[in-house]
Amino acid sequence: MNPQAEELNDIIRKKSIPVFDLLSERGKNIFFPKKGILGQTAEAKGTKINATIGAAIEDDGSPMRLEALASKVDLDPSLVFPYAPSFGRPDIRAKWKSMIYSKNPSLQKREISLPVVTNALTHGISMAGYLFVDPGDEVIVPSLFWGNYNLTLVNAYGARFNKFNLFKKGGVDLEALEETLNEGKPGKKLIILNFPNNPSGYTPTQAETESIVSILNESAEKGNKIAAIIDDAYFGLVYEKGIAKESIFAPLSNLHKNVLAVKVDGATKEDYVWGFRTGFVTYAIKGGDAELYNALESKTAGAIRGNISNAPNISQSLLYNAFNSNDYSLQKQAKYQTMLSRYEAVKEALQTKKYQKYFQALPFNSGYFMCIQLAEGLKGEEVRQLLIKNYSIGTISLNNILRIAFSAVAAKDIKEMFEGIYKACKACS
Ligand SMILES: Cc1ncc(COP(=O)(O)O)c(C=O)c1O
Repeated sequence: MNPQAEELNDIIRKKSIPVFDLLSERGKNIFFPKKGILGQTAEAKGTKINATIGAAIEDDGSPMRLEALASKVDLDPSLVFPYAPSFGRPDIRAKWKSMIYSKNPSLQKREISLPVVTNALTHGISMAGYLFVDPGDEVIVPSLFWGNYNLTLVNAYGARFNKFNLFKKGGVDLEALEETLNEGKPGKKLIILNFPNNPSGYTPTQAETESIVSILNESAEKGNKIAAIIDDAYFGLVYEKGIAKESIFAPLSNLHKNVLAVKVDGATKEDYVWGFRTGFVTYAIKGGDAELYNALESKTAGAIRGNISNAPNISQSLLYNAFNSNDYSLQKQAKYQTMLSRYEAVKEALQTKKYQKYFQALPFNSGYFMCIQLAEGLKGEEVRQLLIKNYSIGTISLNNILRIAFSAVAAKDIKEMFEGIYKACKACS
């Protein structure tokens, strides 16, 4: 093992044996090379003649660039063209951290890591897989989950999914979660918590969130060491009262010495910048301190360095500027209102009695999506294809469930969409 990895492992082991035990073999081996090209380049910063980094510089010292590109971007070239660090730009890391605190007031001043920038959330999940999943490790997911966890965790790192039933009586099936988490002998447990959930669009109520937290706490008390990978892709898009407004990262951040909270979040869906590819990974554990978090950040940045090297500088700079703009909050609020109006239009359309013969909504209250469960005998794929062919309506079929991204449908078109779905179901039945 590289001595720099050993150095990080020694710190982690000294600070938290559970965190060390949660690391995969890859996670144990990885480190951010302090003494490599990046380290030597950092040491040469500010020199008069700097011949370190593999980037080109104009004679005036600014980044070499083509005017055809520079003329399109209204930012200082130094914020756009050079590499960003593998850890991410320091300014946006600090800003996102302060935003995590303000979005989750119950965190108060509790110590959490500095977010490490990823190439958006998919990459954050992948890096969590790199650090925590060994081939054959079980990852607990709800019965309805984002399909790309298959590629990021099963195909890439050899995870095996252990699914728990997500819904019972209109809410979270807490018993199923508890049973699945406590299956087998106490040991390493990996679980993905994704709320608002893709595909269902469900976020647990405040009371359900508290129950989930105490299920994790009791499981940790039994000796399980749990890494909770919290996929907060749709954070902030909650449309009902009584639903958890904060990320479950907040209560998990100092729950138990056996529970490591790994928050994967980013601007993609929250700030409507799907193509920017800016996300973050942030850690917290009860009793965690800067030394432990620095070691985890270094391992994360090392995994990133060996994978995509670093995330786009231009996206981080644009977002950092937006986050500091006076209009940011107002503009975000306006987009939330648009999403809310679509959600309300879905709820209103679903009041139509005749629909019940063919489909029923699964619980939903947040995010971009909702799902309808088709009546027995109807085939989702058949309905989906007819919807495209005869009604020009696109949906996603998941066996006999249709996922509807109401985020992408104008409120005025939502009634027509459900009428089309009704007619297609009728034709298929
Ligand atoms: C639950 C969930 N996580 C992560 C992502 C991916 O986000 P990103 O585009 O930032 O990689 C998605 C996108 O569909 C998602 O639904």
